Amino acid sequence: MTLLRPSRLALLAVAVSAAGVAADGTFNVVSFNVAGLPEILQNNGESGDKTNNTALIGQKFAEQAFDLIHVQEDFNYHATLYEYDNHTYRTATSGGAAIGSGLNSLSNYEWRDFTRVKWDECSNASGADCLTPKGFTYMRWRLAEGVYVDAYNLHADAGTEDDDETARNANVAQVSAYIEATSPDAAVLVFGDTNCRYTRTADDIDLFSTANNLTDVWMQLERGGVRPTVEDVCANPAQSATCEVVDKIFYRPSPLVDLAPTSFSYVAELFLSDPANSSSTLSDHNPLLADFSWAASATLRSSDFLGGPHGTGFSDISALAALSAPSPAGATLSLRGSERLDAVGIALADGATSFSHGGTGGTAASLVMESGEYVNNVTLCQGKYNDHTRIFYLEATTNNGNAVSTGTLNDDCLVSVAPEGWGLVGFWGRDGDEVDLLAALWAPVS
Ligand SMILES: *[C@@H]1O[C@H](CO)[C@@H](O)[C@H](O)[C@H]1NC(C)=O
Ligand SMILES: *[C@@H]1O[C@H](CO)[C@@H](O)[C@H](O)[C@H]1NC(C)=O
Ligand SMILES: *[C@@H]1O[C@H](CO)[C@@H](O)[C@H](O)[C@H]1NC(C)=O
Ligand SMILES: *[C@@H]1O[C@H](CO)[C@@H](O)[C@H](O)[C@H]1NC(C)=O
Ligand SMILES: *[C@@H]1O[C@H](CO)[C@@H](O)[C@H](O)[C@H]1NC(C)=O
Ligand SMILES: *[C@@H]1O[C@H](CO)[C@@H](O)[C@H](O)[C@H]1NC(C)=O
Repeated sequence: MTLLRPSRLALLAVAVSAAGVAADGTFNVVSFNVAGLPEILQNNGESGDKTNNTALIGQKFAEQAFDLIHVQEDFNYHATLYEYDNHTYRTATSGGAAIGSGLNSLSNYEWRDFTRVKWDECSNASGADCLTPKGFTYMRWRLAEGVYVDAYNLHADAGTEDDDETARNANVAQVSAYIEATSPDAAVLVFGDTNCRYTRTADDIDLFSTANNLTDVWMQLERGGVRPTVEDVCANPAQSATCEVVDKIFYRPSPLVDLAPTSFSYVAELFLSDPANSSSTLSDHNPLLADFSWAASATLRSSDFLGGPHGTGFSDISALAALSAPSPAGATLSLRGSERLDAVGIALADGATSFSHGGTGGTAASLVMESGEYVNNVTLCQGKYNDHTRIFYLEATTNNGNAVSTGTLNDDCLVSVAPEGWGLVGFWGRDGDEVDLLAALWAPVS
C-alpha cells in the first residue's frame, strides 16, 4: 500500500486506495482432506508414510500454485505441509488432533477477518467426531481493491448413524445461519469436507441453496443440476467427474461481483507418490479443483474495508442494485460520533432511498450536498475498544471540496477514492451499537 501524508491528516500514515483498479479475472480453488490424523490412530487406508505423503502434497500445492486451497484433517503433519508449500498467505494451525479443527487455508491473495468457529453439535456415534473440536472457518478473501469473496472452509460430522445425521444437519444449519448473519449480499464460496452425499437427505445440504442461494459447482457443471438418487460413489482416483464424493464446492455471485465456475474436476492424479501408479494416492479423499471467472459490476463498486469482524453484517448492496441508476449527487450524509463512529447514514436525492447503520450514541453531523455534488473520497480510521477493532473516524469529502467528519483521528487510517465520476451511495460492513467494519459503495453520477 502507498503511504503518504496528506496535509489535512498531517503526520499520520495513511494507506490510500483508488477504486476500480481490476475489474475482472479468474481464479481457482482446491478442497482437499489431507488425511493428517496421526498414523497410529488412523492410516486412512493409504500406503506410504504420512510425513512423506504430506511433504508431497505440500510440494504439489507449491507447483500448482492454486489460488485458494482449503484443507481438512491438517492435524499432525501440518508443519511438513507448510515446509514444502510456499503460498504467500496461510492460516496459522489451530493444533494437532484433539486440540485443533484440522482446517487451514493457503492462498495467493490476502484476506481479512479470519474466524474459526466450533460446531455446536457433534456425534460420537461413528467417526469419533467429538474427540477434536471440528467446525468451520470464515474469511473475507480479497481478489482486488473492493472485490471480496467470503470463503468458508468446513469439516462436518462423519458417519451415517442417526446421531451422525442429526449432528451433520446441525452443522449445515450452523454454517447457513452464519452466512446469513455475516455475508449479506456478499459473493460466497463454501468448500470443504461436508461428509454429505445427496442421498443422505437427513443432512439437508439443500439448505445452502434454499437459505443462502448457493450452487454446488459439481451439480451445475457435471450433473446438469440432477441430484443423485442412488449412491454413485467415486473411487480414488475418481473414475469420472459425475461420481460423487463428500467434499463439495458451493458458490454464489453478488450484485458487486459476478462469479461463474468454468470447470470442475477431481484431481487425485495430481497427487500421486508415483505418477505412473494410480494406486499411490496421498490421501483417502479425492481433491476437488474448480476454476472461476469473476467480474466487478459496471454500476456498483466497493472500497476496501476497515474495521474488525464484530457485530452483525449489514449491506445496502441489494437495495442499491434494485434501483435503475442510484446517483450519488445531491445526497445527504448523516454521521453520529464522538470518540468513535457511532452511526453512518445516507439519503439519496431520489427522496425515496435512505440507509442508516450503527447506534444512537454520539452527536450528529451531516453534509447536505447540492445537485451535482457528491462524496468521492472517504477516510476511515480504526482502533481497538474492549479488545475489538471498530471504526474510530470517518471523514467524507465532496467533488466541490466540502467535508464532514466525526470520531477521533488516529494513525491507522485508509483513504478510499471513488473511480472518476463515481460517488458514495451507501455502505456495507458490520455494526452493533457502533460501527465495527465499513466499506463505501460507489455508483456513477447520473
Ligand atoms: C482525499 O481526502 C483526504 C483527506 O481529506 C485528502 O488528504 C486527499 O488528498 C484526498 N484525495 C483525493 C484524491 O481527493
Ligand atoms: C520417506 O522418504 C524418505 C526420503 O525420501 C525415505 O528415505 C523413506 O524411506 C520414506 N519412508 C517411507 C516409510 O516411505
Ligand atoms: C512456489 O514454488 C513453485 C515451484 O514449486 C514456483 O513455481 C512458485 O513461483 C513459488 N511461489 C512462490 C509464491 O514463491
Ligand atoms: C463424546 O465422547 C466424549 C469422550 O467420551 C465425551 O466427553 C462427550 O461428551 C461425548 N459427546 C457426545 C455429544 O456424546
Ligand atoms: C440466487 O442466485 C441466482 C443465480 O445466481 C440469481 O439469479 C438470483 O437472483 C439469486 N436470488 C437471490 C434471492 O439472491
Ligand atoms: C502402486 O502403488 C500401490 C500403493 O502404494 C502399491 O501397493 C503397488 O505395488 C504399486 N504398483 C506398482 C506397479 O508399483
